[in-house]
Amino acid sequence: MIFIHFLCAVISLLATGIVADRTTYRLPDSTFPVHYTLRIEMNPDLGSASNYSGSVAIIVNVHYPTDAIVLHADASLEIEQIVIWNVANSEPINIQSVEREAATQFLKIYTDRTMNQIEQYVLGIDFNGYLLRGGNQGFFLNSYQNEFEEDFYAVTAFEPTHARKAFPCYDEPMFKATFDVEIVCGRDYSVHSNAEPVDVELMGEDKQLVRFERTPPMASYLIAFMISKFDEEVREFDGLRLGMITRPDEDRSGDLEFAFQATRFAVDALQSYTGQRYSFLKLDQVAIDGFNGGLENWGLILYATDLLIVDPAADSWERVDSALLITHEVAHQFFGNLVGLPWWEHLWMKEGFATFMSYKLSLQFLPDARDLIKQQFYNDIWDAMYFDSGPTTYPMSHYVESPEAIGALYQKHIVYSKAAGIIRMMENAVGSDVLEAAVQNYIINHRFGTANPYKLYLSLDKFVGYQLPPGVHVGEIFHSWAAQAGHPIIHVERIGESDRYRLTQHPFGSCDCEGSRWWIPIFYTSYDVGERFAGWMPDTTDTVTVVMGGFLPLVNNRWQGFFRVSYSQQGWNEILNNWNSIDGDSRAKLIDDAFGLLWNLENTTEPLIEMLARLKTENDPLPWMAAMADHNLWKLVQLVKGRSNVESNVLQLARNLTRDMLSIFRDDMRGGSIAARRTALLWEERIHLIDNGRVEKSELHCPQMLSSQQLTELRCKAQPLVEMLNSVDVAMCFGGPEEYRQFLDNLLRNFKCPEVWNVILILLEKEIPFVDSFLQSLIDELSDMQNSVDPEPLEDFLKGATFFIYKPEHQQLYQKFVDSLEVISEVQRSNVKDLLDVQRNRVAGIIQALQEANRSM
Ligand SMILES: *[C@@H]1O[C@H](CO)[C@@H](O)[C@H](O)[C@H]1NC(C)=O
Ligand SMILES: *[C@@H]1O[C@H](CO)[C@@H](O)[C@H](O)[C@H]1NC(C)=O
Ligand SMILES: *[C@@H]1O[C@H](CO)[C@@H](O)[C@H](O)[C@H]1NC(C)=O
Ligand SMILES: [Zn+2]
Repeated sequence: MIFIHFLCAVISLLATGIVADRTTYRLPDSTFPVHYTLRIEMNPDLGSASNYSGSVAIIVNVHYPTDAIVLHADASLEIEQIVIWNVANSEPINIQSVEREAATQFLKIYTDRTMNQIEQYVLGIDFNGYLLRGGNQGFFLNSYQNEFEEDFYAVTAFEPTHARKAFPCYDEPMFKATFDVEIVCGRDYSVHSNAEPVDVELMGEDKQLVRFERTPPMASYLIAFMISKFDEEVREFDGLRLGMITRPDEDRSGDLEFAFQATRFAVDALQSYTGQRYSFLKLDQVAIDGFNGGLENWGLILYATDLLIVDPAADSWERVDSALLITHEVAHQFFGNLVGLPWWEHLWMKEGFATFMSYKLSLQFLPDARDLIKQQFYNDIWDAMYFDSGPTTYPMSHYVESPEAIGALYQKHIVYSKAAGIIRMMENAVGSDVLEAAVQNYIINHRFGTANPYKLYLSLDKFVGYQLPPGVHVGEIFHSWAAQAGHPIIHVERIGESDRYRLTQHPFGSCDCEGSRWWIPIFYTSYDVGERFAGWMPDTTDTVTVVMGGFLPLVNNRWQGFFRVSYSQQGWNEILNNWNSIDGDSRAKLIDDAFGLLWNLENTTEPLIEMLARLKTENDPLPWMAAMADHNLWKLVQLVKGRSNVESNVLQLARNLTRDMLSIFRDDMRGGSIAARRTALLWEERIHLIDNGRVEKSELHCPQMLSSQQLTELRCKAQPLVEMLNSVDVAMCFGGPEEYRQFLDNLLRNFKCPEVWNVILILLEKEIPFVDSFLQSLIDELSDMQNSVDPEPLEDFLKGATFFIYKPEHQQLYQKFVDSLEVISEVQRSNVKDLLDVQRNRVAGIIQALQEANRSM
């Protein structure tokens, strides 16, 4: 699954514990499903009512003697009848009692005798359900207007915990079983599911029964079916039928060409990379209006319409977005579907690999768009590093249980971008052929089953050799990155005039990772010897001495590893003296690191200002985009607001950079410069906003966000809003105080919904105009409703917010408010105050550094 990409950071509090896992949400493992026969019966006319009925017969193996079968069934399912019988002798087993648990969504069926390991049972359940309307999760009903009337279609999107809303099942990824899916519906609909249809039987006057081939063993979240009047275009490639399923009301034949080619390319490349054939005889892909990104249902992938259907005249940016998404979802057919997860804790395995493969494959598929794809990748990495150095980050492997907390794990920076960055770092260190061989070994060992990351590490151990220090296992190395939050910074210091360097590691930023150390691969480049690997820095030591040959060794060039680097004064000087002989990717990395270091008071103001001055003649988009990123220059502009002694200088710097960037990119029509041009134009508007108080609200930026419908629908469904906020320049969206006031009211009215916390943090991070009154209202509101808010998530929110409060008067206001809160404990209060102190010192330190730099300029 993937949410649509956006440039800016999203904060996820949920995953850091906003939903306290007090209950055990895990099913017992005493019984296992091995096969489901699932029948779903729809009304002959889908639009007539939302109800459907169904039955499921699950063949169950018993692992430990038990008198209970526990599985999932959402409260919205009406259970009509439950029967259990013994497969061997067809004897019915009496049911003693049935319990349903709302919090865990468990359906507990107690039998009057103990069921034994040697026996197999069939659990049969008849149920009624309701299609959800106006959403895109679970089993939902949508419609569109055709020439004459409104046409309805019903489709499923179960990942990660929504299958239980459609039918009773063991809705955890570990419980893989084969499925026979059968759908009864009106005759004028077409029906799709994961596998091929095997036969169609007419029923009654107006119904049909469509039966599908048996699936391979699979997790419930990957089951999918769709009942619609959509068109289907099918092409056969190498024995595989590729189908594109789209709304019938438009002629889109030419527009499907791109998706067919991208899919075919992805399937071929993945079969060859993994050494496995794709598991079904067909792969259907569906375009759904209003869908969010893509969803990798095995054999029946769903996409947002405009990401699957690409106009032949589309610019390279749109092609890149579409190719990245299609390759990501096709990669899941192997990573996640074929080899699954034992639990959501290691979600990064499937999302990280799908993301890593999507960049690899898109680069091969669209060689002309190389620069854009590379920029998108680096963009993801630097956003991820920024998030991962903040107080709300968490480890890639992150154990949670409740459905809400699992849903919140699907957040871009850690399980997608950071995980892809760590996999790429390992590939850079051990070699792409070693990684590929290990992946093949891992998949062949675990296909149709599940495997945790340690199984991958074992496979890697089989193929690595000299790339690792003797006696060290891949697991130790990978574990230091996957199990710890945050990432390191390495300080590089030359020893005398020798080619020996002292490297020191420590955790970077404000992550909650004091004392952590990592196994760090030391990549470097120097201009006389080229790219080299200097070996590993172990996670047991702070300091190592390494030999790096050549002149001006630059460590972690091209972001090969997921860590930051700082140099001594002499090192920075040498870098600046040789600036033009450094490659563009590394120049971007140096600028991003220097900003990151400034933010963490590592005294890089002077080299940073010098690097920014060099941009005047920079033609490569990447260093520009690093400098002008929201977490870099824009953040600095926010930070100095109201500090008259440095504000004017920083603003002038921003004006100058915007002017220079525009002069370089405004008329640059090279494909790789699209993003830089957009960034330059965005900054032009921002500078205009700063200089003139307000801009005309741009239709381009905030069409839907402030619509009254959006505001009414906000309620607890804040995810789309989170995404919208990330795709627009919030500072420009609010034309005036009136709209803004309305927006805020609505937001705060829904404060109890966990997602709303995210929205507020994003607003703070993105620096809304009217920030003074925003903070004041927020504080008033929170004080009033403190008793109805769970104190644990409240603390996380309060900690996260300190990170985005720059002005002394805001910090004071905030401090007072934290002091006055009655519902948090003294420990919690002092945790928040500590972070506020850190932030105060940080801002003061940066201002002082800027003042010193000013004087010396
Ligand atoms: C929907 O509900 C109606 C009224 O209870 C019932 O007659 C009909 O059979 C139900 N439809 C399905 C598909 O179960
Ligand atoms: C930062 O580095 C400069 C030299 O570039 C030095 O003069 C200054 O004292 C340093 N400041 C701190 C706080 O270390
Ligand atoms: C901005 O540019 C002007 C003229 O090009 C220059 O005089 C000034 O020093 C620059 N200011 C900053 C802060 O970069
Ligand atoms: Zn995904």
